[in-house]
Amino acid sequence: MRILVTGATGQIGSELVPALREVYGRDNVVASSRRRHGSLGDPFVELDVLRRDELERVVRDYKIEAIVHLAAVLSAKGEQDPALAWDVNTNGTINVLEVARANKVEMVVIPSSIAVYGPETPDNPGDIAVMRPKTIYGISKVVTELLGEYYYSRYGLDVRGPRLPGVISWKTPPGGGTTDYAVEAFYEAVKRREYTFWVRPDTRLPMIYMPDTIRAFLLLMKADSSSLTVRFYNVQGMSFTARELADTIRKFIPEFKADFKPDPLRQRIADSWPKSIDDSRARRDWGWKPEWDLESMARDMIENLRRVLVGSG
Ligand SMILES: NC(=O)c1ccc[n+]([C@@H]2O[C@H](COP(=O)([O-])OP(=O)(O)OC[C@H]3O[C@@H](n4cnc5c(N)ncnc54)[C@H](O)[C@@H]3O)[C@@H](O)[C@H]2O)c1
Repeated sequence: MRILVTGATGQIGSELVPALREVYGRDNVVASSRRRHGSLGDPFVELDVLRRDELERVVRDYKIEAIVHLAAVLSAKGEQDPALAWDVNTNGTINVLEVARANKVEMVVIPSSIAVYGPETPDNPGDIAVMRPKTIYGISKVVTELLGEYYYSRYGLDVRGPRLPGVISWKTPPGGGTTDYAVEAFYEAVKRREYTFWVRPDTRLPMIYMPDTIRAFLLLMKADSSSLTVRFYNVQGMSFTARELADTIRKFIPEFKADFKPDPLRQRIADSWPKSIDDSRARRDWGWKPEWDLESMARDMIENLRRVLVGSG
């Protein structure tokens, strides 16, 4: 399968592209982003998803059969520039879906986000639950999901995607989401032994470690279409409070000092999201099961960040 990945230089793409190349072959995975940076090798093309004509040219030139659409403006960054977030997240998605439909692309994979939920969503929501988000990012992700379902039922385009919680990783810094504190805490713990969380200590959110995120993408992409009962599936790795994260980091870095100074905007976003999500349908339909919990993730994050940031194991 020849795959185009949009927004490939971000937090997820920089690890998903190598994993896809491993499975589908290097030359079959074309990475793209607005500008070339980071360590992704060729094939790579500069591609702005708002340019439908360029997108179409790339899909034709490379005989693309599947698109993994990662280009987006995330939650916290989206609140700085709501018009841009709306434009990239909804018009970028329409462009991808239209080009896919017109060029007989077989599959479009688009990650959604727990940001589709809102304060009216009941605890531990399943895949079909109340979705009244309060951020422009969440609103654009609801639209993305609805468009994906529409292109599937109207045109038979196989659109599917994991609905992700906060993704934690050490290779590429996150791009401006509300859960980024959970990544920054590790960086700062390793670099300076202290971190000021921008949320209250009791803030609990669902999260997932990058290796599980990559596995979720690969499993969902391999799943037989006949086994899918929805197009967007909750996947969760773990759920923890900011204080539990600080306490777990302290098991490995005993001097770690955590402060909590909530930032009103991002705290409000965090408070509007569910504390955990129900991913039982993904488990049933395509065998999803996370492999990493808070403690095993913390050990792995700290080992790797020590190696890359301070050069000791
Ligand atoms: N990281 C998370 O915690 C998380 C959680 C839930 C869902 N997601 C979803 O996963 C996907 C990837 O997220 P990420 O964390 O890698 O984001 P990121 O911000 O790290 O990367 C997004 C990439 O898109 C690129 N981009 C932005 N506008 C573009 C445009 N017009 N054309 C082409 N490229 C453009 C950016 O340069 C960046 O490289 C997004 O759809 C996001 O909503 C991420």
